[in-house]
Amino acid sequence: MTFLEKVEELEKEAVNKFESASTLRELEELKAEYLSRKGKFSTLLRELKELSAEEKPRAGERANFLKRKLDELLQSKLSSFEKREEKAPGEFFDFTLPGRRTWEGKLHPLTQTLDRIIEIFYGMGFEVAKGPDIETNYYNFDSLNFPQDHPARDMQDTFYLADDLILRTHTSLVQVRIFEKRKPPVKILAPGRVYRHEAINARSYCLFYQVEGFYVDENVTFADLKGVLVAFAREFFGKDVELRFRASFFPFNEPSAEVDIRCIICKGKGCSVCKYRGWVEILGAGMIDTEVFKSVGYDSEKYTGYAFGLGVDRIAMLKYRIDDIRLFYENDLRFLRQF
Ligand code: DAH
Repeated sequence: MTFLEKVEELEKEAVNKFESASTLRELEELKAEYLSRKGKFSTLLRELKELSAEEKPRAGERANFLKRKLDELLQSKLSSFEKREEKAPGEFFDFTLPGRRTWEGKLHPLTQTLDRIIEIFYGMGFEVAKGPDIETNYYNFDSLNFPQDHPARDMQDTFYLADDLILRTHTSLVQVRIFEKRKPPVKILAPGRVYRHEAINARSYCLFYQVEGFYVDENVTFADLKGVLVAFAREFFGKDVELRFRASFFPFNEPSAEVDIRCIICKGKGCSVCKYRGWVEILGAGMIDTEVFKSVGYDSEKYTGYAFGLGVDRIAMLKYRIDDIRLFYENDLRFLRQF
């Protein structure tokens, strides 16, 4: 067989096989078989040097032609496979590739904290209720026995909106909204956002979260209040947590207390989180003042009640050892992804 005949034969054979290839893998195999350095085409080309000087140019040209033809055929097959892959990805799915993780959202650390707090109090028989963020002066202050123009109002720097509307500065007023609608017994947890016109720094922000809890019934005592707060703290922070009740003043309570937790970061030795006091304040509480009952028509001879207001941000900071409250509100994913 002459060289040209051999080229012809190789052409027929190769074109046939390339055209009938139906998978990428077959095509790769054919490429190796015919077009690689040790493939059939290269092997045939080596015979070129045995030809005479007159034969060589035509034979070389013919061989080149075949090489181009096979290269083009290979390329067009490859691209037709790629197109098919776009249309029907299933056909070429490579099961050996590593999986692609789908992006999973998470709850904000404050939401996680809030959910946990609610869960614990829910277990102690509290219902959940909510009030509006935009309030009136009446609910935010008057109904809770804050005297008109009394410095007590300055304890909570307020954002004033139009007319008589303000952004609520605390959640205690949900007590009054509920008392107006319901008769005792009421045992309620009211979580939500509150707003204060305060200088922004690592420890205070213009908005934050509170959870208000209150229970009114016959024979509710301060001991009951201590009981639920200690039970909550043990559940939330761990069994060996220590609480400290300090006398305080809130116009809607009598008596009033503030509750500190032994710093869980330094165990009371003193660190930057507790400002070297060994204790961190986490809530205000007390027995509901008879003035509040009066304004909603509850019989204060018959009923007593306690209330407490927890700072959610504060306890989230303690739990997760976060030293700057602003991180909660900046939506920086580098921060949020850690929870
Ligand atoms: N509302 C108070 C505040 O924002 C916190 C508070 C204190 C809530 C005493 C209470 C309470 O229910 O009894 O500072």
